Amino acid sequence: MGRRVTTRATPPDATRLGTARALPWRLDCHVAAGDDSAAADELRRALGAPRPWIPARWFYDDAGCDLFVQITALDEYYQTRTEQALLDEHMDALVRGHGITELVEIGSGAARKTRTILDGMEGAGTLRRFIPFDISPGAITASAADIAAAYPGVRVHGVAGDFSRHLSRIPRRPADGRRMVAFLGGTIGNLDPPKRRTMLRRLARLLRPGDCLLMGTDLAHDPEVLVRAYDDAEGITAEFNRNIIRHINHAYAGDADPGHFAHVARWNARASRIEMHLRARRDIDWNIAGLGIVVPIEAGSTIRTEISCKFTRESVRAMYEDAGLALAAWNEDPLGRYALSVATPA
Ligand code: SAH
Ligand code: AVI
Repeated sequence: MGRRVTTRATPPDATRLGTARALPWRLDCHVAAGDDSAAADELRRALGAPRPWIPARWFYDDAGCDLFVQITALDEYYQTRTEQALLDEHMDALVRGHGITELVEIGSGAARKTRTILDGMEGAGTLRRFIPFDISPGAITASAADIAAAYPGVRVHGVAGDFSRHLSRIPRRPADGRRMVAFLGGTIGNLDPPKRRTMLRRLARLLRPGDCLLMGTDLAHDPEVLVRAYDDAEGITAEFNRNIIRHINHAYAGDADPGHFAHVARWNARASRIEMHLRARRDIDWNIAGLGIVVPIEAGSTIRTEISCKFTRESVRAMYEDAGLALAAWNEDPLGRYALSVATPA
C-alpha cells in the first residue's frame, strides 16, 4: 500500500498499486489478480456447478473493457446511445437546484457518459469530487487521469473493487455535501434477483437524505431487437464473450482455446433476460492450474457467462422500494427500450 506512481499511463501491474497519491487523482485498489481467494473460490464453485457458469466480472480485463467500448458503438447495441440521449435531455433538470457536490459512479468503465453528469454538476457550480468505482484497475486509472485533466478543480478518487464486496470502501460522504450515486449502462441487470436486492440495499447505504441514485435500466421489449443487441453482425459481442476464457486462462494458467467455443445469445422470456453462453464446439478438458481444477466440457454443452435482465417501470419501482428507496424520476426513450431513473432515500 502507498506505493508511488509516476506514470499517467496504465501501470503494468495496477492491481498491486494499493493507494497511489503522486498524481492529481488517487486510486485505492482492492482487487489483486491471482491474489483474491474469494474471487477464486467463487469461480471454482461456478465452474463446478451442475450447470457451469462464469461470473460476469471476468469479462472485464483490459481487452474486455476495450471490447465493451466497441460494443457500445455498434448499431445493434442501442443501450449506450439511448442512455446518452436521456442524459443529454434530462441531466440539467436532474442536478439543478440539488446542490450535488460529488458523483460516485459504480461500474464506471471508460466513464464516457459520466462527463455529461459532471458537466451538469459543474454548470450548477457545485461539483467537488468524483469517485469512479470499477473492478478494472486499468479502466479506473485511464478514466481518473482523463477526468482529472479535464476538470482541474475536481478531486478524483478512484476505487478499484468488486461491487459485490467492496462498496463499503468508498470514501465517506462529506457532512456538508450531497452525493449522487450513478449506476449506468444497465449493469444492475447483470445481477440475478438475490444479488440485485443485496446490491440495491448496499447502494442505499451510500445515501443520506438529500442524496440520490441515478440508474440506467434496459427495458423488456421486442426479443428480436434484444437478441441482435447481444449477437451483432460484426461478431464483436462474440469476441467479448470468448475473451472471458482468455482472461481466466491468463489469471489462473488455464489452457482452453477460446476458438473452441461458439457464442450464443438467447432470450429467456420467463426470466425476462438475455443470456449469453459459450457452447463447446468439441469435447474440452479445461485445465485451470491456478484454481487446481479441470473442467470437463462435453461437445455441444454450454457455460453461461452472462444474464442481462430487462425491466419494467413497475419492476424498477419494486426493486427500489425493497431497498428502502423511492422512485423519484423516470425518463424513458420514445421507443420504450431504456430508462434512466432517479431514486431517493424513502
Ligand atoms: N458504466 C459504463 C460501463 C458499463 S460495462 C457504461 O455504462 O458504459 C460494466 C462495467 O462494470 C465494466 O466497466 C466492468 O468492469 C464493471 N464491473 C463488472 N462487474 C463488476 C464488479 N463485480 N465490480 C465492479 N465493477 C464491475
Ligand atoms: C454491462 N452490461 C450492462 C452489458 C449488458 O448489456 O448486459 C454487458 C454486455 N454484454 C454483452 N453486450 C454488452
